[in-house]
Amino acid sequence: MVNLDEIFKPIYFKDGQMFWIDTRYIPWEEIWRHTKDYNRVAQAIKDMEIRGAPAIGVAAAFGMALAAIYSNARNIDELLKDLEKAKEVLSKTRPTAVNLFWALDRVMQAALKASESGDVEKVREVVLNEAYAIQREDIEQNVRMGKIGAELIEDGDVILTHCNTGALATAGYGTALGVIRAAWEQGKRIEVIATETRPVAQGARLTVWELVREGIPAKLISDTMVGYLMSKKKISKVFLGADRILLSGHFANKIGTYQIAVLAHYHKVPFYTVAPTSTIDPKRTLDQLVIEERSPEEVRRCPYPYEKIYVTVPSIDVYNPAFDVTPPELVTGIVTEEGVAYPPYWVSLREIMRKKGYQ
Ligand code: MRU
Repeated sequence: MVNLDEIFKPIYFKDGQMFWIDTRYIPWEEIWRHTKDYNRVAQAIKDMEIRGAPAIGVAAAFGMALAAIYSNARNIDELLKDLEKAKEVLSKTRPTAVNLFWALDRVMQAALKASESGDVEKVREVVLNEAYAIQREDIEQNVRMGKIGAELIEDGDVILTHCNTGALATAGYGTALGVIRAAWEQGKRIEVIATETRPVAQGARLTVWELVREGIPAKLISDTMVGYLMSKKKISKVFLGADRILLSGHFANKIGTYQIAVLAHYHKVPFYTVAPTSTIDPKRTLDQLVIEERSPEEVRRCPYPYEKIYVTVPSIDVYNPAFDVTPPELVTGIVTEEGVAYPPYWVSLREIMRKKGYQ
C-alpha cells in the first residue's frame, strides 16, 4: 500500500512559496529552489528545471496560486485580470504537453466560479486549493495507473523505457515508471532498460537516478542501441509516457519515441504508453499538434550542467524538435487511471473521456 503523504514530491507548496527540485542537476546534486513569484515558475518550466507533462501542469497550477496570493488586487475584477496575465505568462513556457494548459484552465475556471461570491480572499483560497487538488489527484492517478499497468507485466520481463516518466516528471510516483515501480513492489522479477534520451539525457540522468534509488535492476543504453537489442530478443515490453494524446490515438512524446515504436512493431514487442486522462486532449486534431523546437545548443553541447562542452563543431546547423508523434497503429495499449484503452482508440479513448465527464 502506497502512503501518499510519504511519497517523494518534486514540487510542493509551503508557507506561501512553491518549492521544487531543480532536475537539471540530477544525478549530481539535489538542489531545491523556491519562489513567491509566478514569473520565476514560468522560467523554471521554460529552462526545464521542472519538466515532464504532469509536473509542469502542477507547477503551473501553483504558479497561479502565487499570482493570486501576491496580487495587489483590491477587487474581483483586478484579481481576475492578474490571474489572466499569469495564465498567459505560464502558458507561453512550453507548447506540447497538454497538462500545462489543462491545469491553467482548470484553476482559472475555479477562480471564475469563486468570483461569483464577490469575495477576493475566497478566490485566493479557491485557487490555492485547486492547485493542491491537481497535485494530489495526479499522485493518486499515478498510483492507480501503476496497479492497472503492472498487470501487463510478467515475471522475467525486460522493459524498455524512454525519457523520464518517474516521480520527477509528475507530482509523484510517475506514469510509465510508476507502472514499473508497482510491478517491482508486487515482487515481480523485472529488469529495466533505460534509453539515454539525447539531447537532454532525461533517461541517463533522471530515470537512472530513480531506478537506482528504488533498487530496481536496470541497464542504461544509448538511443542508438534499441534496434539491436530488440533484434536479439533482449526487450520484452516497452512502457513510456506521453505529453499529449489525441482521441485518434496519436500521441506526442519525447523525441525518439516514434523510432522505438516502429522498431517495437517490426520486432513484435508490445508497446504501451502510460498517461493520466489529463494528458488526453479531446479538442485538438493531428494538424493542430504543436511540436516544440528547442535551442540548437542542446544538440551541440553536453546536457546541463556540463552545457559549456561542445560535442560537435559549434557552427553546425542542427534540428532540435523536443517531441515526435507516434501513430495509433504502433500502439498496443494506452494505460490510464480509468483502465487500459485498446484499439480502436477513437472508440476506447472517447469512452474513457466520457467517464471523465467530456461529451
Ligand atoms: O521535455 P520533457 O523532459 O518535459 O519531456 C518529457 C516527456 O516527454 C515525458 O515522456 C512525458 O512528459 C511523460 S512524463 C510522465
